[in-house]
Amino acid sequence: MIEIRAEEAKDSAAIRQVHLQAFHPRTGEAHLVELLRAAHKMPISWVAVADGQVVGHVVFSPIIIEPSPLVPIRGLGLGPVAVLPAYQNRGIGSELIAQGLKECHQSGYDLVLVLGHPGFYTRFGFTNAKACGLASEYGADDAFMVMELWAGALRGIKGMIKYQPEFNDAGC
Ligand SMILES: CC(C)(COP(=O)(O)OP(=O)(O)OC[C@H]1O[C@@H](n2cnc3c(N)ncnc32)[C@H](O)[C@@H]1OP(=O)(O)O)[C@@H](O)C(=O)NCCC(=O)NCCS
Repeated sequence: MIEIRAEEAKDSAAIRQVHLQAFHPRTGEAHLVELLRAAHKMPISWVAVADGQVVGHVVFSPIIIEPSPLVPIRGLGLGPVAVLPAYQNRGIGSELIAQGLKECHQSGYDLVLVLGHPGFYTRFGFTNAKACGLASEYGADDAFMVMELWAGALRGIKGMIKYQPEFNDAGC
C-alpha cells in the first residue's frame, strides 16, 4: 500500500536519505532539495510513503524563461525525483510523477520541463522541448522535455529555460 502526499515538516530527514541512497554516491541532489526548501522554491514537493516510511520524493521548482514571454507563464521544472533502491521498479516513481503533475495542473501552472531519460518521461506526456522552440541552459537535446498542462500553453513561447540558481550551487 503506497500513499502519495505533499511533503510535511517531519519528512525532511527521510527525504534527504531517499536522495542520498537513490543517487549514491552523488550527494548534490540531497543538497539541492535542502537549498530549494530553505529558499521556499519548491511549491510542489510530494512524497511516497510505504511500510510507514518515506520511500520516494519528487520536487517541482519554478523555471525562468529568457527572454520573458509577453504573456506571463508559470512553468515548473520536475526533479530531482528519487525512490529508495529497495522500492524501485514497483511503480512508485511513476505514481509520484503522475500525482505531482496532477497537482501542478490543479495549482494553475502552465508548463512542466524535465531533463531526463526520454524513454521514461514520454510516458507521462513529455515531448522534445527543442522541437517546441525551447533551449536548455545545459545544452541538452533529447533529454530536455516539456509538457503543456493545458492545450496551447506553449503557443508563442520561445527562449532559454533556466532553473533556479540553487541547481548550480548544489552542483546539479
Ligand atoms: C528514476 C526513479 C525515480 C524511478 O522510480 P521507480 O519507482 O523505480 O520507477 P517505476 O517503477 O515507476 O518505473 C520503472 C521504470 O522506469 C525505468 N527507469 C528507472 N530509472 C530510470 C532512469 N534513470 N532512466 C530511464 N528509465 C528509468 C525503469 O527501467 C522502468 O521501466 P519499465 O516500466 O519500462 O520497466 C528511480 O529509479 C530512482 O530513484 N533512480 C535513481 C535516481 C534517478 O536517477 N532519478 C531520476 C533523475 S532526477
